Amino acid sequence: MTIDDDKRLAAQAAVAEVRDGMVVGLGTGSTAAFAIAALAARIADGLHIQAVATSEASAHAAFAAGIVVRDFADFATLDLAIDGADEVDARLWAIKGAGGAMLREKAVAAAARRMIVIADGSKHVAAIGAAKLPVEVLPFARAFVVAQLEILGATVTVRPDYETDNGNLVADCRFAAMPDPRALAAAIDAIPGALGHGLFLDEVDAAYIASRGVVTRLKRP
Ligand code: 5RP
Repeated sequence: MTIDDDKRLAAQAAVAEVRDGMVVGLGTGSTAAFAIAALAARIADGLHIQAVATSEASAHAAFAAGIVVRDFADFATLDLAIDGADEVDARLWAIKGAGGAMLREKAVAAAARRMIVIADGSKHVAAIGAAKLPVEVLPFARAFVVAQLEILGATVTVRPDYETDNGNLVADCRFAAMPDPRALAAAIDAIPGALGHGLFLDEVDAAYIASRGVVTRLKRP
């Protein structure tokens, strides 16, 4: 069993929850790519769904796999979103955004009636906080936002030669400790020019975690 096998198993378990007629939000990253493949396989077997994608990369992959991809701008609500994570804990708090898509991912997750995280066991942690926390930054306000993030205790690296699908920068933040993710999320939300961040504290409804071939389903406590 490889990590990719575990990512595939977690993805397949989540895709098994997709039903005919749903509008499904597709995540971004290597685990989400397995979900796109699993969904395409079910569509080839007769499932009828529409999808919206959280990144241009996932939109292209889904379209190439034969999935009907719609513009998220036309949907106020979705039935289900399936996405990867960089860390997830037992509270179903997650850190996302290593792939830089966290702003679109959060909008899609918030619009979805249910959001399922899929991950291999390395992403399952006792408490989120060790992973870098990405923040999408308006280029116009770069130095100001970085300074504000540093005041919050972050060691900040602006991703070099990188632009999000929205044309913005990403500031990767490392925190020595993250004792209160909810307070941190609120503080980042309050910085003008910080457009979004990878703390997902209210969005995740369930998670499929696969470790050495065994899939576990976590529910919000
Ligand atoms: C992209 C994300 C990804 O879902 C997250 O980084 C996990 O990626 P992977 O499945 O490749 O480990 O949040 O913005």
